[in-house]
Amino acid sequence: MTSLSDNLKIDMDIRTVTSASKNVRKNVVRVTREKSKQDEIFRSEDGSQTIMLGVAEPEKMTRRKLILLARRIISIAKGKKMDTLLIDVDVFSFENVNMFDQEMGELVATNFLMANYSFTEFLTKPEGGFPSVKEIFFEHASKEFMEGVKRGVIIGEEVNACRQLANLPGGDVTPETLAIEAKKIAKQHNLKVKILGVAEMKKLSMGGVLGVGKGSDIPPKFIILEYMNGKKSDASVVLVGKGVTFDTGGINLKPENSMLGMNMDMSGGAAVMHAMAAIARLKVKCNLVALVPAVENMPSGSSYRPGDVLRSMSGKTIEVNNTDAEGRIILADALTYAAKYQPSLVVDVATLTGAAMAALGERASALFTADEKLEKEFRELGELSGDYVWPLPLWEEYDDEIKGTIGDWSNLGKTRYGGAITAAAFLRQFAIGYPWVHLDIAPRMTSIDGEFLAKGAAGAPVRLLVKLLER
Ligand code: BES
Ligand code: MN
Ligand code: ZN
Repeated sequence: MTSLSDNLKIDMDIRTVTSASKNVRKNVVRVTREKSKQDEIFRSEDGSQTIMLGVAEPEKMTRRKLILLARRIISIAKGKKMDTLLIDVDVFSFENVNMFDQEMGELVATNFLMANYSFTEFLTKPEGGFPSVKEIFFEHASKEFMEGVKRGVIIGEEVNACRQLANLPGGDVTPETLAIEAKKIAKQHNLKVKILGVAEMKKLSMGGVLGVGKGSDIPPKFIILEYMNGKKSDASVVLVGKGVTFDTGGINLKPENSMLGMNMDMSGGAAVMHAMAAIARLKVKCNLVALVPAVENMPSGSSYRPGDVLRSMSGKTIEVNNTDAEGRIILADALTYAAKYQPSLVVDVATLTGAAMAALGERASALFTADEKLEKEFRELGELSGDYVWPLPLWEEYDDEIKGTIGDWSNLGKTRYGGAITAAAFLRQFAIGYPWVHLDIAPRMTSIDGEFLAKGAAGAPVRLLVKLLER
């Protein structure tokens, strides 16, 4: 069986040049920065071109805007079918953006790659290929800057690999093929991998994953990846990613327009798998585990039903009041499984609720944690990485809204308000015995206009997770 991401070619080559070698390539396009409101393309008499980036108020530059500036370069180049760029690193230096060279190189390279990616898997190749930037030469780059570039390329590649996996159709990425992908990642990066099938999940009493997975012809899997490169005595960090490979809603079937895009309901799973790949490639010294409960939420004669009660691995029962609130049910078992590692931290990442989008729009993932220090740290990591997050409450009072009638906990809030919060309150019942952070990434599942990213999966929060593990 060929693997899912075989066709993902990452082909941006970023190098540094000395002034002597810079005229080697005829088609190289220079990039400069002007104090102007617009970007312009200048063509000189010998035919050579220059992209003149317009930055009207350089004194107002911020890290956030710098991310977009880097992507804008690639977006312009792709639009004009320019494939080789020569950039003086001074283009990125601004008085009030204080960054070490290495950090700057990393940030720029990651965002170059992110802007260069698009999902072309099923499109017929146009003549001359899909527009993409093939080579970038940096001028006046320090050694530290280029070291940052190397790291940034790795991070960008893994963000894009995550986006690719998420973008693939639900018919191609199933619990089975997602597990194959995990094995492939493990092989590439020397990770330990274990895939639990139905029989093993039954032994562990994972009634949540098994219950949600019942309606599909394709059996659920529970994916476990381990990267143990820290001291033996160092406690592990466990990442849990929602792996619903297609979310129809189940018997509580989604209306058609809300079902579109639900092939990306495994974005959390893809993110934790590729964050781990990035960590391994960067050789970070840490012990890291990724858990991905993988299921397809389908309506059929064998589906779980509204009113069913599932016994989770924790022993607590779940009253199913809506089969479309499936993510929290499979995550319940994964959060219980996570405790086996006696972790120092568990972070779960899930496209969990439309309500998170109603609350925050599409520019930040929802952040939930009972630990104020972790809340502050994650907000910082968001700013550093570009995977922005914003807190919502995780107060005990909300438990009232998810108390079950015939089961311990209901998977549906009692009112139609605060759906992201009641989902988090539900997860909290199972995240026991360790510090815990929940990221509802539904708001960041897909890219939005103005981000200079291709339509489709946005790859959140791979960059944030990498920054977290590097601390
Ligand atoms: N996967 C969806 C949430 C989602 C919606 C993610 C849109 C990304 C974009 C989740 O499984 C779901 O269906 N949630 C329901 C919960 C409800 C039934 C309590 C929702 O948000 O409507
Ligand atoms: Mn759902
Ligand atoms: Zn879902």
